[in-house]
Amino acid sequence: MLEEVVHIRRAAPSDAAVIAALNLFVHEPHLQAMPDDYRPYDQAAAAAYFADAIANKSHMVWLAEIQTRPVGFIEAELRTRANNPFTSPLIIVEVQQLAVATDARRVGAGRALMCAVENECSALGASEVRLQHRAFNDGAHRFYGALGYETYSVSMRKPLL
Ligand SMILES: CC(C)(COP(=O)(O)OP(=O)(O)OC[C@H]1O[C@@H](n2cnc3c(N)ncnc32)[C@H](O)[C@@H]1OP(=O)(O)O)[C@@H](O)C(=O)NCCC(=O)NCCS
Repeated sequence: MLEEVVHIRRAAPSDAAVIAALNLFVHEPHLQAMPDDYRPYDQAAAAAYFADAIANKSHMVWLAEIQTRPVGFIEAELRTRANNPFTSPLIIVEVQQLAVATDARRVGAGRALMCAVENECSALGASEVRLQHRAFNDGAHRFYGALGYETYSVSMRKPLL
């Protein structure tokens, strides 16, 4: 079997539709698990969102390819927190969305995409990468844990309707 070589590159404006299609791999399980929170998938709206993100200077989008086939993407955002009476100033990179096509998983694409974010984080002088995932998403939790990420905050809710 040919070794799967994952190639990572920064997304171009012309990649917006491809990334929107890959977004289905993260959107669909969230819609299934939390139908009140997530809207039915709209690929055109997603493509417009990613076109904006790719053009936005504080956002970063990378594409993972295996033998020129797009198999995954990651979107991250540079965030700063100014000094305030309670917390220290902070410059971080936050992962917003990450997805790898189901049939291309466990060959290192997710890890390579996170590595691109971490390298950029260091290059920008940001102190760390942060991200959130939903509580149902055990696979993502184990993936991030395998890459050295630790839980630093917990969100809670109580539905009243
Ligand atoms: C999470 C996701 C991005 C991982 O992508 P991937 O390309 O399969 O990950 P990698 O191959 O780089 O995995 C690296 C390591 O993470 C761990 N890992 C990855 N997926 C895992 C899973 N489902 N369960 C347990 N460990 C996992 C393993 O240690 C793996 O190394 P190994 O394959 O040598 O054992 C992918 O499963 C995905 O797109 N899931 C749906 C969307 C999603 O949940 N996105 C994140 C939302 S916050």
